[in-house]
Amino acid sequence: MKDKIVVLLKEKKNEFLSGEELSISLGVTRAAIWKYINTLREEGYNIESSPKKGYKLLESPDVLTFGEIHNFLNTKFLGRNLIHYESIDSTNIKAKEIAREGCSDGTVVISEYQSSGKGRLGRQWVSPKGKGIWMSIILKPDVDPSFASKITLIGAASVLKAMNNLGINNCSIKWPNDIVINNKKVSGILTEMSAELTRINHIVIGIGINVNIDVEDFSKELKAIATSLKIEKNKSIDRKMLLAEVLNSFEPYYEEFIHNGHIPSTIDLCRENSILLQKEIQCIRGNSIFRAKAIDISDNGELIVELPDGKIEHIVSGEVSIRGLYGYVDS
Ligand code: BTN
Repeated sequence: MKDKIVVLLKEKKNEFLSGEELSISLGVTRAAIWKYINTLREEGYNIESSPKKGYKLLESPDVLTFGEIHNFLNTKFLGRNLIHYESIDSTNIKAKEIAREGCSDGTVVISEYQSSGKGRLGRQWVSPKGKGIWMSIILKPDVDPSFASKITLIGAASVLKAMNNLGINNCSIKWPNDIVINNKKVSGILTEMSAELTRINHIVIGIGINVNIDVEDFSKELKAIATSLKIEKNKSIDRKMLLAEVLNSFEPYYEEFIHNGHIPSTIDLCRENSILLQKEIQCIRGNSIFRAKAIDISDNGELIVELPDGKIEHIVSGEVSIRGLYGYVDS
């Protein structure tokens, strides 16, 4: 309800909207509207009220609610159901719970703060309050479960494209799930799936973007390998616009995917912006570590590498690193 009130107030631009109009549009009493307005004020909204004229929105807080991104969002279904928390353990954990209970395809779970943000390989993801985009998208594609890893690439392509759309052009994709600026990680993706042998129940794609994190927010260890858009650009970035741009970019890539399981536009963007291609890399697969040269990304989204003996291999998932990136130094 609060989101609906914010959307209606924003539609009025700098004019008053009467309590009566609000109550008729939303089907609740004027007393209820008054209560919601007061809650919004407690949450940081500056709303002027006049007994005769109604309510006028003067200023909104920096929060990633549906009401706040609605004006920038041009998706058909992605993010149209956006569940917002002030604080949560992990949006991926919550999204899996919500998906199990049942929700629409494209539901987005977002939180201003995560107390136990999850990274890949059991790592922790630092998620300070109001300084990043910590979100999980719930998807229910009707495709074979073996296609699911492509969703991670769709996420990476969407984050990169969104950054480009906001004029941030010096970022690259480190296949399959990181966005990198100046050799430091600025965004990571954690994709989790619930499936049966031949059918996907749901996929949760967790996206973390370090937007307005300050250097002091990172530990000494993280400082060496992680960065934020604010640190790189020397100015705060509009989180609302960036979030909407990620969702706006994601939807067409995802639609291409559900059409027949192929992701040519995503692959093109990942190839053009890959930090790995033509570089000597180190790959970790299970217990083995081996050197290789990254040659290409296949149409299926696998990393194609050439081993020192000239053999070509396709890597489906796993850890890869290159010298100079995230502090990896050749030994
Ligand atoms: C990685 O690079 O290791 C993946 C990081 C993924 C972090 C995001 S933040 C939103 C979502 N919720 C989580 O707990 N993790 C993902």
